[in-house]
Amino acid sequence: MARRILVTGGAGMIGLEVCRQLMARGHLVHLFDLGEQVLRVQSAIPADAKVFFGSIADPASLRAAMRDCDAIIHLAALLGVQRSESDKLQCIEINIDGTKNVLECAVQHRIRKIVFASSSEVYGEPVANPVTEETPTQGKSVYAVTKLAGEELCKAYSQRYALKHVILRIFNCYGPYQAAQFVIPKFIRNVMHGRAPVVYGDGRQLRCYTYVSDTADATIRAALSGKVDGQVINIGSGEKPTSLVELARLIIRIGGKEGALKPKVMKGFDASDRCRSREVWERYCNPVKALDLMGWKASVPLNEGIRRVFDCGVIFDRWANLYDEDP
Ligand SMILES: NC(=O)c1ccc[n+]([C@@H]2O[C@H](COP(=O)([O-])OP(=O)(O)OC[C@H]3O[C@@H](n4cnc5c(N)ncnc54)[C@H](O)[C@@H]3O)[C@@H](O)[C@H]2O)c1
Repeated sequence: MARRILVTGGAGMIGLEVCRQLMARGHLVHLFDLGEQVLRVQSAIPADAKVFFGSIADPASLRAAMRDCDAIIHLAALLGVQRSESDKLQCIEINIDGTKNVLECAVQHRIRKIVFASSSEVYGEPVANPVTEETPTQGKSVYAVTKLAGEELCKAYSQRYALKHVILRIFNCYGPYQAAQFVIPKFIRNVMHGRAPVVYGDGRQLRCYTYVSDTADATIRAALSGKVDGQVINIGSGEKPTSLVELARLIIRIGGKEGALKPKVMKGFDASDRCRSREVWERYCNPVKALDLMGWKASVPLNEGIRRVFDCGVIFDRWANLYDEDP
């Protein structure tokens, strides 16, 4: 059955792909995002999406966008280390107060269900890897705290009202239209311009990286399946984790610069927007719960995903100075 779904942050990296896949599956989309972002990615917005300009800080614009919707996929957020740490209050206002506005309006509009985009950042430096949903949360940043608060807000609204929720803890996602300050577009941009990717720390930081079409697919499954209501689910690739230096080498190889470039390992964090106390050294996902409950498994291998981002490389400069790199 076709659903009408509001996607907040619908013009962001994950949002655009969620909207595209929803429409390809015959659903109706209300795309809600800041005007400046909608204009920036206008050519990538699916033609039949109903576009609403606005901020989640503004309940009136949210209410207009929500009219007649069955469900909400709530992706709008302020992200990026430097951006959130340099203005903690703004991060709190968008990610906590904004999420509360979304939930409050959802109740008023009798929306059935909300999918909340949380983050693997809530695990901080995890006590064990691969990370399951039972791994204790111990986030290190204001961003992590706001995501955890968003999770609790969803639970609280479900407790009091007839609003179902699913919480997705998304592990490092990448793809076209990602802000240039995140690690994969940053490395790719350097390689495209003949510059070495710069690695801060010792380069052994381990992560799993998930291509955006897989993350979007998981998000849509969560929105449409009744089996996952009330659940917290990790969304990340189960591929072998990759160190930052390996990632840089892979990007050099795919960019055809093997022999010409090699990763520049800075050892410390000087001249970076990162710092030792906030750095996470090893964090990768156990995605078994997503497989069990939603039949979801990431399907795009890292080298293939990176190749696809290279193909869209021209967009990166438009994002300069907007965000910094994800933690
Ligand atoms: N990309 C990742 O690796 C990752 C990891 C964990 C969690 N997440 C979460 O997934 C969601 C989507 O992330 P993304 O990678 O697509 O980032 P993104 O920055 O590309 O998308 C976020 C979107 O939210 C919009 N937005 C910001 N403030 C807003 C406001 N006040 N009102 C309306 N829209 C606003 C932005 O304009 C942007 O289009 C976010 O909630 C993010 O925290 C992403």
